[in-house]
Amino acid sequence: MLWFLVMLLGVRTESVNPGIKMKINLKALDYGKQIGMELLKTTLLHMPIPDYQDSYSIPVAGHVEYAVTGLKVTTVNLGKTLVALVPNSRLKLSMGPAEAQVTGHWSVNSFLIKESETLKLSVENMMLAMLVEVGWDGTGHLIMSLEDCNCQIGDLNILISEGSRWLYNIFTRVLKNVIRQELEVKLCEEIQKEMRTLQQTLLKNISESIHISPFADLNYSLVAAPLISEQSIELDLKGEFFSPSEPTKIFPVTSSPISLWEQKKHMLLLGLSDFVANSAAFVSWGAGALSWTFNDSQIPKKFPLRLNTESFKGLVPEVWKQFPDVPMALKLFARLPPSFQTHPETLHLLLPGALQAFILPNGTSRVPVFLLHIDIKVSAQIFVVGKNIGASLILDNFNLTLAHSDIGPFQIDKLENLLNIALKSVILPRTNRKLKEGYPLTMLPKISLQNTVINIQKGFLAVATDVQYES
Ligand SMILES: *[C@@H]1O[C@H](CO)[C@@H](O)[C@H](O)[C@H]1NC(C)=O
Ligand SMILES: *[C@@H]1O[C@H](CO)[C@@H](O)[C@H](O)[C@H]1NC(C)=O
Ligand SMILES: *[C@@H]1O[C@H](CO)[C@@H](O)[C@H](O)[C@H]1NC(C)=O
Ligand SMILES: *[C@@H]1O[C@H](CO)[C@@H](O)[C@H](O)[C@H]1NC(C)=O
Ligand SMILES: *[C@@H]1O[C@H](CO)[C@@H](O)[C@H](O)[C@H]1NC(C)=O
Repeated sequence: MLWFLVMLLGVRTESVNPGIKMKINLKALDYGKQIGMELLKTTLLHMPIPDYQDSYSIPVAGHVEYAVTGLKVTTVNLGKTLVALVPNSRLKLSMGPAEAQVTGHWSVNSFLIKESETLKLSVENMMLAMLVEVGWDGTGHLIMSLEDCNCQIGDLNILISEGSRWLYNIFTRVLKNVIRQELEVKLCEEIQKEMRTLQQTLLKNISESIHISPFADLNYSLVAAPLISEQSIELDLKGEFFSPSEPTKIFPVTSSPISLWEQKKHMLLLGLSDFVANSAAFVSWGAGALSWTFNDSQIPKKFPLRLNTESFKGLVPEVWKQFPDVPMALKLFARLPPSFQTHPETLHLLLPGALQAFILPNGTSRVPVFLLHIDIKVSAQIFVVGKNIGASLILDNFNLTLAHSDIGPFQIDKLENLLNIALKSVILPRTNRKLKEGYPLTMLPKISLQNTVINIQKGFLAVATDVQYES
């Protein structure tokens, strides 16, 4: 039941707008409950039950020592389970009527009697209720504590094989009370202990970032305490890309707020703000990833124009006049990080680019000839590919200006046409092929998304999805 929360717990915080907001609703908790129940069942089956020793005074026989040893839960049926959200910070979990079978040994020892038998215990109509506080320690760690735990056993039956009838009668009565008390207290203690272990091992071990590409990691640590309402749990995650080689060089902009709505159809509703994409762009740009160099070998064979000064005879006659029939290379790069902006239904991408042209007079050197500034505006369609979020770009428009020339001033209108073709038939298709592979929507291991629906809001991308846990 706690699995969802546990997997999502990040570390540290500061009060900043999240890049990613996540709303987990009751449908998700019901699903998480199934997994949690399996976990609880396993816990019960492996729960150590300590041996118990005491003495009892019986008429005639006098002072009798008895012991119950090697108790072990053999079967468990948890009954009906319920999970509810209690604003603003609690989870209420309950189950029952549950049943369990326990086996062990019992022995009595006195001056007169010495007996040792196997013992079978059946617990019925057991009810368990827990209140879990999901808190915040102020320094960024999330705390889950068992605020209240109540276990009650309805019926308890003891079967001792063979043995003396009178002893049996006396001791089942004695044992019933002892075992009932022990179990009722012990179970809650065990749950408490399990939760602490979970918190200490699992939570501490959860990394706060994920490796997305060689030059970009995503920081998804929690930036605020989770907010629990009757319908959902809301989590604020940082959602910031950073360079693993330069983790201090971070995107200098903060995210704008994301407001998500209540919905019941999907388990999760995610809001990914423009900030997430913009920080990814910033990091990619900083790492020099947004730069592509082309020479003739990358131009498709069937393409009528070759990348040499001969082809530029008509486009930029000055190049051809000064360097007749020399191979050329073109470097397309981002002058500044691309910027993403979501408007309802559309995502706009502005790429402040540049094109540097070189001549390749011999095998070893690249001589710059001119630099063009190209501002490109594209619209994006966003879709889901498996566990990833992908995109495809459509060119809206671009502006071309001559920023620098080593060969004197020249007209750029013909270059504009060429660039138009290059963008549409080489650069955008290449980019689209990359984007189609996408970036992970979920940073959680072993989780796949289903029935995912994406729509674009002002300032953020909304993703409604079901999740499936693959153990
Ligand atoms: C911690 O994480 C590492 C690597 O992700 C894993 O191998 C290890 O088993 C984890 N430890 C615990 C206690 O979960
Ligand atoms: C992730 O962000 C948090 C909150 O700003 C910060 O404290 C933490 O150091 C960051 N982690 C990494 C790996 O950058
Ligand atoms: C053209 O580009 C390819 C691939 O980047 C490179 O292997 C080749 O050396 C380049 N040719 C020239 C003449 O620069
Ligand atoms: C290649 O051309 C450059 C520029 O014209 C020149 O400086 C260099 O010496 C040439 N290299 C060779 C090996 O010819
Ligand atoms: C190109 O210039 C026009 C006119 O100044 C402007 O409206 C348009 O937004 C510019 N496009 C880009 C991609 O910068």
